[in-house]
Order: sequence, then C-alpha cells, then structure tokens
Amino acid sequence: MSKLVDHDFYQQRIDNFLADKLDQLAINDEKLHQAMRYGLLIGGKRMRPYLAYITGEALGANLSDIDGVAGALECIHAYSLLHDDLPAMDDDDLRRGEPTCHKAFDEATAILAGDSLQTLAFDILANHSFSKAIQPKQLKLIQQLISASGYQGMCGGQALDLAATNQQIPLAELEVLHSLKTGALLEASVLMGAECAVQVSENDKKALKEYAQLIGLAYQVQDDIIDITSTEEQLGKPSGSDLAANKSTYPALLGLQGAQEKAENLFQQALQALTSLPYNTHSLAEFATFIVKRDH
Ligand code: IPE
Ligand code: IPE
Ligand code: MG
Ligand code: MG
Ligand code: MG
Repeated sequence: MSKLVDHDFYQQRIDNFLADKLDQLAINDEKLHQAMRYGLLIGGKRMRPYLAYITGEALGANLSDIDGVAGALECIHAYSLLHDDLPAMDDDDLRRGEPTCHKAFDEATAILAGDSLQTLAFDILANHSFSKAIQPKQLKLIQQLISASGYQGMCGGQALDLAATNQQIPLAELEVLHSLKTGALLEASVLMGAECAVQVSENDKKALKEYAQLIGLAYQVQDDIIDITSTEEQLGKPSGSDLAANKSTYPALLGLQGAQEKAENLFQQALQALTSLPYNTHSLAEFATFIVKRDH
C-alpha cells in the first residue's frame, strides 16, 4: 500500500480518528469494547477511507469533513468483516493474519461488536462537526451510507453471495452480486468523498460513479483471483477458501486467465472514466492500478 500516494498519511489519520471515537465511548462492557477495537483497529488496508480522502481532496474538500465520511465507511466495512467470518457465513478462522473476532473472543461478542460498529458508523456521520458549507448535506450523506450498506447494498449482496454458494450462477448475476456485496460501499466511498466538496457538478459525479463501479468490480475480480494465486501468508486469511466453499467466482466462471483479462479490462475502462474530470485524478488512477496489481 505504501506505493499509493499519501497512503501512510491517510492511514495514520483515519486510525487516529477511529481510535479517538472508540476512546470516547463510555465503557459498559470491557469485552465488547475490546472486540470492537480488535475488529476496527487491527490491520486493514483502509481502502474505503483512502478513496474518500483522495476523491474529496481532488475536489478541494476539507480533510476534517472527509474524516467523518471515511470513519463511518470504515466502521461499516469492519462490521461487515466480523459478520462475514462467522460460522453462519464464511466460517473463517483467520483475518488480517490474526484469529477472526469470533475466534479471539466468541461468537456472541463478534455479532455484537459488528452490530455496535454498524451503529457507530451512523453515530459518526450524524454527529460529526462538518463545516458550515457541508452541514446541509449531512442527511444526504447518511442516506448514501444507508443505501450502500443495507438491503439495497452490501447486505443484499452478502445474501446473494450465500445463495450462490454450491451453485454456478451466470456471469450477469455474479456481476450484480459483486456490485452490491463490495461495489456499493466502494462507490459510496468515492461519492461521499466527493460530496464533501462544496461544489461538484452532476457530470463529474456521473464520471466518478462510473469510475467507482468499475474499480469496485475490478477489486472483487482481483479478490477472487488472489484467493487462488496468493498464499495464506500474503493474504492474511486462508487461500483457496472460495474454492473450498464452492463459491461462484470469476475464475470459476471464466477460468483464471479469463478473470485476469476481465480485471485488466475493467482497469482500462476505469482510467477512461477519469479522463473527463477536470481535476488532478492522479491518485485515483494510481488506486485503480493498485486494485488490479494487488496480491493481498
Ligand atoms: C475484504 O476487504 C473483504 C471484501 C470486501 C472482499 P478489504 O480487502 O478491504 O479488507 P481489509 O480491510 O484491507 O482487511
Ligand atoms: C466479504 O466478501 C464482503 C463483505 C464483507 C461485504 P468475501 O467473503 O469475499 O471477503 P473475504 O474473502 O472474506 O475477505
Ligand atoms: Mg463472504
Ligand atoms: Mg469471507
Ligand atoms: Mg473473497
């Protein structure tokens, strides 16, 4: 990740922001609080905050406004992983090179930590001190996060993902599944980051949305590829777990080479989508490269 422009800076910034948020919570239950910290602060590439920061910054937004959006996005992501790893879902024991939350604590605690992180996301967005110019958009930001994370977004995608286990689904269905499961939150990261700018035209939002959808899909295609091609050590989670769980994946449908071509294709289209934007989109282009080159 250090290849990405200013990634270390943004990572430090969001880690401090999130650590502060957790510290501010009155502790009723030490174990639950520790599990939230475990899920939120141990590891993670912070891609969603990063996307929000680089998009917002390209459009001239204040970093302190983007903090609220980035923090909320990462809380939703962290919660989704705690639940995704549970025995009732993917039943994984390893995440980010460490035991999954339900292994380090217990299932009930992992469920509750996920629930609490989801609520914390909306707490952050609803209570963040946005600057005067952005305050009128606060409700809109909350609505964006709701649709990206709930039934119409990530949760809907997770349900499709589980339903597609042990059966081959057509490519078009796989694309819908991914656009909801991971795409929706990545898209929200770009669009909510953009919303932190005082002014952003509808045309620019359209191009950003297209970019986000393309890299969102590319991200998931690559996630499926590295599940096969990378080692457990590189991934920090078991490799081959999609195969073991008999999941519908791009390599399963297109073959490994077909999936790699698909990722490359999406990458090129994402770069194309950026060309109409009248900003410095260097970081966004670099991010697209990172997505399709990553091995973990
Ligand atoms: C992994 O997400 C799970 C998916 C959404 C496919 P990331 O690759 O962003 O995971 P971390 O946060 O960096 O560990
Ligand atoms: C997780 O997808 C997606 C969400 C949590 C929304 P995966 O199940 O493919 O992610 P990994 O492979 O466990 O990281
Ligand atoms: Mg899963
Ligand atoms: Mg999983
Ligand atoms: Mg996966």
